[in-house]
Amino acid sequence: MIEPGIRIEGLRKRYGSGATAVDALKDVNMVVAPGEVVGLIGPSGSGKSTLLKCLGAVIEPSGGRMVLGGETIYDDGWKIAELRALRRDRIGFVFQAPYLIPFLDVTDNVALLPMLAGMDNAAARARALELLDALDVAHRAKAQPSELSGGEQQRVSIARALANRPPVILADEPTAPLDSERALSVVRILNRMAAQYDTAIIVVTHDEKIIPTFKRIYRIRDGRTEEEVGEGRVVPEMA
Ligand SMILES: Nc1ncnc2c1ncn2[C@@H]1O[C@H](COP(=O)(O)OP(=O)(O)O)[C@@H](O)[C@H]1O
Ligand SMILES: [Mg+2]
Repeated sequence: MIEPGIRIEGLRKRYGSGATAVDALKDVNMVVAPGEVVGLIGPSGSGKSTLLKCLGAVIEPSGGRMVLGGETIYDDGWKIAELRALRRDRIGFVFQAPYLIPFLDVTDNVALLPMLAGMDNAAARARALELLDALDVAHRAKAQPSELSGGEQQRVSIARALANRPPVILADEPTAPLDSERALSVVRILNRMAAQYDTAIIVVTHDEKIIPTFKRIYRIRDGRTEEEVGEGRVVPEMA
């Protein structure tokens, strides 16, 4: 059996303690294959952000197990010492806002993370250009972020998330500010990138425009996950 990109078993997270404790995650179970894009949906307060923060090693779970790219990173306690390196090298984050660095050009925004991970500057820039090309923004490589449209900025932020070739990408409402056409374009790109780089991608969303595109959906309700079959509607390439 091929080890999935993401495996979560019985994950729990309690905030606080005693009478005021909040059990945000009670029993979360998920499997995402390399190259697969799954949707994570659920009402406000159901635990979506908590789950992404646990997976992204931003907060510590209270129990359960998480496996990323074949390695157990958490099993009733962290199993790896370098959480900062884990976040930088093995997890790509895409947020609702692109958070590009305003004083670096587009290429360096993407090349920065590989450089921080120890890649030499020329190789990091070459990788950045390859990704920008795959995302159809290579012609903006020398531009400053402020010169880009919202859709272009979001594509650059996806290139940045992919720059260290992470086995996992976590996207939190990546299409919320975009119009329908741009939102579907981001989904098409995430699907293409997942297939091209064998990345396991989780997209947290309540965007009705993109929910029909997922083949598989995890619905989180009161801290517990349920798996659903999605419509898997194909997003046509734009002219
Ligand atoms: N830092 C925190 N301290 C205490 N409770 C929290 C904290 N963060 C989130 N919660 C609670 O955990 C539950 C899940 O929150 P969250 O993961 O943000 O849900 P969602 O992203 O689905 O809206 C909510 O009841 C929320 O109030
Ligand atoms: Mg949230």
